[in-house]
Amino acid sequence: MATTYRICVIPGDGIGQEVTPQAVRVLEAAARRHGFRLDLRTEPWGSAYYAEHGRMMPEDGHRTVAAADATLFGAVGSPEVPDTVSAWGLILTIRQKLDLYVNLRPIRSYPGLGPRPADAPPVELVIVRENTEGEYVGLGGRLFAGTERETASHTSVFTRAGIDRIVDYAFRSVLAGGLLTSVTKSNALPHTMGLWDDVAAEVAGRHPDVRWERMHVDAVAYQLVRAPERFDVLVASNLFGDILSDLGAGLQGSLGLAASGNLNPDTHVGIFEPIHGSAPDIAFRGIANPLGAINSAALLLDFVGEAAAGEQVRSAVADTLAAGAATADLGGRCTTAEMGEQVVRRVSGGAP
Ligand code: IPM
Ligand code: MG
Repeated sequence: MATTYRICVIPGDGIGQEVTPQAVRVLEAAARRHGFRLDLRTEPWGSAYYAEHGRMMPEDGHRTVAAADATLFGAVGSPEVPDTVSAWGLILTIRQKLDLYVNLRPIRSYPGLGPRPADAPPVELVIVRENTEGEYVGLGGRLFAGTERETASHTSVFTRAGIDRIVDYAFRSVLAGGLLTSVTKSNALPHTMGLWDDVAAEVAGRHPDVRWERMHVDAVAYQLVRAPERFDVLVASNLFGDILSDLGAGLQGSLGLAASGNLNPDTHVGIFEPIHGSAPDIAFRGIANPLGAINSAALLLDFVGEAAAGEQVRSAVADTLAAGAATADLGGRCTTAEMGEQVVRRVSGGAP
């Protein structure tokens, strides 16, 4: 009997509705090729659901995600719903409630794409972003709203346990001979980031075979532009990881290519999403790049234990790009569906 994976699919808003079906087609092609089955359930959560129900997802929506073997997520955000409502009503809440403390964001360059010269060394790095605490705990408020005395505070929360587990995960992800970079800003933020540095040094002591360094986030941003090939695995707080991963997507040549996985390696719950947003400005024109969603499907395949299929999807994406197929974000004219079709054909073993 072929293994069946229960996959929850949440396309969400805007281009999430367009790119997610392409990622699903690729998953289905991978299943046929690699001999496993998919039990797919699509959830209508997002801003349209909000218009009807006054919330982005059902109250126990996170349980649906927890019950699946893995979840594929598109994007959230729409002009009709305030940003904080759409973000906190769905993805940020799911990350926190399910304690998905690892946000894995691999960045690789594709030949001929991105701002780097053609003869520059290839980039292949992973940003391991802390995903449940730090700057994103949502603690704070505004006082005296609308008056001269208006005051705002927003508190970051860093815990020893939270830092330890994410840094440890990052150390364990470094391949033989690779480098771990722990990203902070402890010169300016000595309390929270100082704790991070201390805990990172302790965790490093448990991994004596791994080379590691500490670097301030501003220097990391500079080096990512100047010499990204020097990095292998970077571990960073929630906000720093968010910002650096968009920079990484810029190195790849488009935000439309970058993938991510939110996961808890202990409970084995994972939700996979392109790092781009819902892009309402280009939504429903059939021009969005589905490769970030498809690369996220590849991470999902790794996660459920179909790493050979995941690798094949990544190669199919690379081959599709190498063949010159490109959506508008990459300067091309392919539609979302054409791009998806090209990847599906390669995954299925058809002629390129
Ligand atoms: C991301 C996004 C989210 C984040 C937004 C939508 C809240 O930018 O996944 O990178 O900041 O985590
Ligand atoms: Mg982001």
